[in-house]
Amino acid sequence: MQTDILNPNLQKDIKKAGEILRNDGLVIIPTETVYGLAANALSKDAVKKIYVAKGRPSDNPLIVHVAEFEDIYPLVKEIPEKADKLAKHFWPAPLTIILPKAEIIPTETSGGLSSVAIRMPENDTALNIIKSAGCPLAAPSANLSGKPSPTSFEHVYEDMNTRVDAIVKGEDCTVGVESTVISFCTEIPTILRPGVISREDIENVIGKVKIDRAVREHVSDKTNVASPGMKYKHYAPKAKIIMSRLCFNDYIKLFEKKPNAKALCFEGEEKELNVEAVTFGNKYDSVSQATELFKALYKIDELGFKEVYARAPRQSGVGLAVYNRLIRACGFQTIEPKIKIIGMTGSSGSGKSTVANALRENGIAVIDCDEISRDPKTYEGECLEKLCEAFGKDICESGILNRKKLAKKAFSSKENTLKLNKITLPVIIERVNQKIKESIDNGHTSIVLDAPTLFEAGADRLCTGIIAVTASEDLRLNRIIERDKISHEEALLRIKAQDKDYTKMADYIVDTQTGNFNIQKIIKYINHAN
Ligand code: TXA
Ligand code: MG
Repeated sequence: MQTDILNPNLQKDIKKAGEILRNDGLVIIPTETVYGLAANALSKDAVKKIYVAKGRPSDNPLIVHVAEFEDIYPLVKEIPEKADKLAKHFWPAPLTIILPKAEIIPTETSGGLSSVAIRMPENDTALNIIKSAGCPLAAPSANLSGKPSPTSFEHVYEDMNTRVDAIVKGEDCTVGVESTVISFCTEIPTILRPGVISREDIENVIGKVKIDRAVREHVSDKTNVASPGMKYKHYAPKAKIIMSRLCFNDYIKLFEKKPNAKALCFEGEEKELNVEAVTFGNKYDSVSQATELFKALYKIDELGFKEVYARAPRQSGVGLAVYNRLIRACGFQTIEPKIKIIGMTGSSGSGKSTVANALRENGIAVIDCDEISRDPKTYEGECLEKLCEAFGKDICESGILNRKKLAKKAFSSKENTLKLNKITLPVIIERVNQKIKESIDNGHTSIVLDAPTLFEAGADRLCTGIIAVTASEDLRLNRIIERDKISHEEALLRIKAQDKDYTKMADYIVDTQTGNFNIQKIIKYINHAN
């Protein structure tokens, strides 16, 4: 079949796309998430062609795309109040809702189910083409079944040229992973596929929702899964990919034993690896990871990588969407750390010590990194000699470090602080490592590092997970004033000096605002953290 390449900026090409679709043809269209392989959703014959072009099992239902909210009325039996509210709040958006289907939807579109998935995309070209076709469009991702979804024209062309009537050559997709799919056919609305509209975003609008088990776990083909798409091998490049849940330091070491393996890591990390690497976004920015992931998977094949170890994305917020795609690309193969090291950080007054104490009371090993850094013994020996050399002998009194004198000199300028850190951080980290070993010898398999300067000290590299403890600024202020008996102004200065949004860097957030955080939930996270 000859495939026409259409220009989304030409009215005549949009018209042509509409005509092809009305005549039961296939047109690949750009959307904000991934490119979609579109056909008239109400025509059996047209929809059958999608399954052939993709090589997709025909029990895997398709998403029906509409251009106006009103367009969904003829397609469904009913619209529950929460579904109505959610769609009206977000649409047009990367959000798909599943509702009981009307007769008009052919079984070919719904994969034999009694429900139908509907979404109004945000991309202008997609909306123009739906309007031009004058019918709702069924459009799965435009990849061959089982391969990563295409987010650029080049990737679509590679897979689909000669398999469809036309491809609309749009821009790269901005979102990069497919829409969030949420079903309203269950008692509590259930997310079947996570996307950039996160569980938290949805719960802010309609209250509690569930996340289907198959989002995180491998569900065997025989099991009756809510979303048929979840049971197939998915998003897999030719290369074998394995997800590493090791801390960054151990991830680096992993390649020493596997010199032929390659890396799929976060931006900047490749500089510390001695092997070829492809990156997928910023470690602390799940949205950028979503945009980059599928591109990275295509790149891995372009570069001919055979065996790849991937860094694990976080499983909260938008991170869950990235995790869900990557763990499938890995065929659920992972490398797990033997010991879980969880970094716990937060600003002054956030309630970190309270949480740390509660954890200790529940038998969790907690290492107080601040105590280690304040203990003069940490700096004994060679380190103390280096400090004397750098800052003068008077910082040392009868062989013991005078921290106050050192602080006065070391914090007098940026250069001096840097000099101090260069000398002290390695010994602090070494002490922390010693303490970790002691805890392991005592039988602990999960260890928490209570560290106010976890990131600044680079101790996050030892961690397999990060907890951020938070509270509002007002509350932190009051706590500091009471605890340290200092003035409002002094407390404010201290807070402003170290104010950092640790929640952006964390895998798990503990909010101590109301005072009754759920310690069992935190322990559950610690024991399962990855
Ligand atoms: O972002 C997107 O949603 C993209 C673009 C092109 O719009 N489309 C897309 O479609 O990802 P597709 O077919 O690749 O994924 C649809 C997913 C599948 O996992 C399918 O099993 C599920 O939605 N699904 C569709 N209808 C369903 C239904 N009635 N019940 C349960 N799951 C359904
Ligand atoms: Mg797909």
